Amino acid sequence: MVDNKYSCDEDMLCGIKAPKDMNALSELEQKHLPVIDAPKKVKRDETFLVVIEVGKLKAHPNEPVHFIEWIELYCGDTFLFRVNLAASMSLPKVTIPVKLTHAHGPLKAREKCNIHGLWEFTKIIEVED
Ligand SMILES: [Fe+2]
Repeated sequence: MVDNKYSCDEDMLCGIKAPKDMNALSELEQKHLPVIDAPKKVKRDETFLVVIEVGKLKAHPNEPVHFIEWIELYCGDTFLFRVNLAASMSLPKVTIPVKLTHAHGPLKAREKCNIHGLWEFTKIIEVED
């Protein structure tokens, strides 16, 4: 049996954090969620744009001691994209052209803050065949 004295609530770098209630986001959630903007419905094998922005709901610091290190995008569990960011050199907002051929499931964006760990935002999209 593993005795782990740290839960994800006690250690910011433990696990993946996702919003508990989208209608009552904490300040930390507002600053860290990688919010996805994408069409609700897309056609399979046709390119569409996905915008992911960290700090859209409340600005996140962007300085050498506290910044967003990277942003990733998945469709279900299929990896689609990753961008690495430098502190103070780039804003944590990316626009990604996506074409789904066989992947299915919701879009999931993940981002890593160097202090506050890994965060995830999910957006359900419908893929028409
Ligand atoms: Fe942070």
